[in-house]
Amino acid sequence: MPYQKAELDPLVEQAKTILDNNWLGRSTKPAPHLYPHQWNWDSGFIAMGYARYNQARAQQELSTLFEAQWANGMLPQIVFNPTALGNYFPEPDFWQGERSPHYPEGILTSGITMPPVQAIAALRVYQHATDKALARDWLADIYPRIYASHEYFYRDRDPNQEGLVYIRHPWESGLDNSPTWDAALKAIVIDKEKLPAYERRDLKKGVPKSQRPSDDDYDRYVFLVDLFRRLRYDEQAIYQECPFLIQDPLFNSILSKANEDLAEIGQVLGQDTQQLQAWHRQTNKALREKMWHSHHGGFDAFDLRSGKRTEVWTASTFLPLFCGAPTAEDAQTVYQFLDSNSFCPMHQRHCFSIPNYDLQGEYLDTKNYWRGPVWINTNWLLMKGLERYGFNEKVISVRHDIIELVKRWGFHEYFDPYQGTGYGTNDFSWTAALFLDSVMEELSV
Ligand code: SER
Repeated sequence: MPYQKAELDPLVEQAKTILDNNWLGRSTKPAPHLYPHQWNWDSGFIAMGYARYNQARAQQELSTLFEAQWANGMLPQIVFNPTALGNYFPEPDFWQGERSPHYPEGILTSGITMPPVQAIAALRVYQHATDKALARDWLADIYPRIYASHEYFYRDRDPNQEGLVYIRHPWESGLDNSPTWDAALKAIVIDKEKLPAYERRDLKKGVPKSQRPSDDDYDRYVFLVDLFRRLRYDEQAIYQECPFLIQDPLFNSILSKANEDLAEIGQVLGQDTQQLQAWHRQTNKALREKMWHSHHGGFDAFDLRSGKRTEVWTASTFLPLFCGAPTAEDAQTVYQFLDSNSFCPMHQRHCFSIPNYDLQGEYLDTKNYWRGPVWINTNWLLMKGLERYGFNEKVISVRHDIIELVKRWGFHEYFDPYQGTGYGTNDFSWTAALFLDSVMEELSV
């Protein structure tokens, strides 16, 4: 084993301190300055870290998020911290979520959602719980809420009833400025005269502009929010008018895995889980049939507006491993691509896995957000996918890269795929949480 407990212990303590400092009393902010509120999928990853040492906090983190659930089941991307308003854009005054009849009472949220990792996190909280009876009571409370969020997706985001849900904003993907969205965003023509006035706040938090989405991207992010609020967040109307509707392999793989894990939770609770199992099977089948690209050995997104596949290769390309969508044979092809020069192969020591964008791709930018750097959460998800198919040597290699990146450069938001240098903001909560989880796993095998 290349790591000794004694050398990792101080880093585990550091990870816990970061989470303590970002703890807001009932939830955790992703980072001290850049992201001062509660974020949907961040909270899921953060709960997975707490699950390893603080059951109460892990449960509270997810329960707080669900207090902000909309009446139609949508779990919002951001739950705003009322004491930290004025530091982020866009905030509730811009979202105007209260235009929707589904907006929750007395809580401030954005009007979009994010990849649904909650069932995956909740199952891990239960599995690691020291007080199982307490965890079971908590599961009984959260199960119907998670279920309602999955129902929302299959009811309101799957117009063809094909088992694939769409995202209607790049922020919903979690991978904001991934090159996957470029073509769809470019097709949105912006009339600056009609675009609501806004001011970016993300550029005032010490992160260089070269590491963040462009102003052209932001114009389109704002255009879409303006469309949603004008349509009062009516999903039918949005479906008719929204120029950005994309079925994404990462989002759908997470949803599929979440169905599988929620079914496992349902079984713990003695519930009928047939619908969850049917959703899991249906989404896996649709991923195989609609999104599989045998020529490349990966899955790509489908743009419902242009009717075309995006043909952009990112970490999401491999995420269907996580939910068990590829056949064992196709998984070998996926693996060839994942472990190739495009995504830093295992025995190449001049790079770190797994960059979020093809290292040989036309739009690679090794410093910019989702356009090339390595992220700890996608590494973690892919590690679980690789484990599912028995690619054990690569599992260890990805886990070592998670540990090594943090050990050498600190708890950054994202990392250079070649040098490893940390970029974005510091003291990033999910880096701390998933590092902690990965270390626990490393020391237990
Ligand atoms: N990641 C987004 C931001 O940078 C929001 O989800 O602000």
